[in-house]
Amino acid sequence: MGPQVLAGLLLCLCAGPWAEGGKVLVVPMEGSHWLSMREAVRELHARGHHAVVLSPEVNMHVKPEDFFTTETYATPNTQDEFDYVMMGQVHVLFERVNFLKMFWNTMVGLKNASLIFQRSCEALLSHKDLIRRLNASSFDVVLTDPVYPCGAVLAKYLSLPAVFFLRGIPCDFDVEGTACPNPFSYVPRLLTRNSDHMTFLQRVKNMLYPLALKYICHASYTPYQRMASELLQREVSLVEVFSSASVWLFRGDFVMDYPRPVMPNMVFIGGINCANRKPLSQVCIGAFIPSMFQVRPI
Ligand SMILES: *[C@@H]1O[C@H](CO)[C@@H](O)[C@H](O)[C@H]1NC(C)=O
Ligand SMILES: *[C@@H]1O[C@H](CO)[C@@H](O)[C@H](O)[C@H]1NC(C)=O
Repeated sequence: MGPQVLAGLLLCLCAGPWAEGGKVLVVPMEGSHWLSMREAVRELHARGHHAVVLSPEVNMHVKPEDFFTTETYATPNTQDEFDYVMMGQVHVLFERVNFLKMFWNTMVGLKNASLIFQRSCEALLSHKDLIRRLNASSFDVVLTDPVYPCGAVLAKYLSLPAVFFLRGIPCDFDVEGTACPNPFSYVPRLLTRNSDHMTFLQRVKNMLYPLALKYICHASYTPYQRMASELLQREVSLVEVFSSASVWLFRGDFVMDYPRPVMPNMVFIGGINCANRKPLSQVCIGAFIPSMFQVRPI
């Protein structure tokens, strides 16, 4: 069964007039991630489903709307800390520096950000009252962005099926979580700027870069493994956390990304990013787009 057929079936299940409204627990990732997910939540509401969005009190874009209910929880993060770290991520991407510097800045920024999110998740999962209420609400599904694996951990804790909604995730957690083939010879790895056609040296680079990333991923993601293990009172691996998803909805397509092997529960929904399209201004087309696609020398 192809992914299109599966997606079609899912849509029928969600949209059919015979379907009853479901209860969806949404655990979003902050920043631009939420802006796309918000459109999906808007559509779920339009189709008669009820969404509850879980959000820390200190946040950036997750604001109340009339098409979902918001549940907030307190965290030890201050708004200043949060804004600083979130904005730090944006400028790192656009800095014109050499690769090593960019790599280092990205790593430091990621580490800072992951601490903020860890504290948020710990506050959520240790909020006994809120967890009890969520458990009693008998949700049908958890919709979450696994880049922030708190939603995946929460879904496991509440024994609910999870739907992952993401642009991507570093360190191959998606291919590990779905047991998807991922050959080094033609799937370009993060930050390598390789294409799907590589020379021998580029393939070597393709194998070496993930080793450096593995370290930072460990630092960023093992806390969630620890939280899951504590909650479920048994050894839980990161792969287990990430393999709990029923469906992975990728906000991408093979126009933007190189083709790669996928599993039947990996569905590409790149068009959702165009929900609020506006014409680009000439300034944008002239200055911004070429610089985004320019391949910088290493
Ligand atoms: C990371 O945190 C350190 C210490 O809090 C700070 O000095 C640094 O500027 C931060 N970097 C980024 C990119 O957020
Ligand atoms: C949720 O409720 C069920 C039934 O009352 C209970 O067995 C389960 O332990 C609860 N789970 C959590 C995480 O509190």
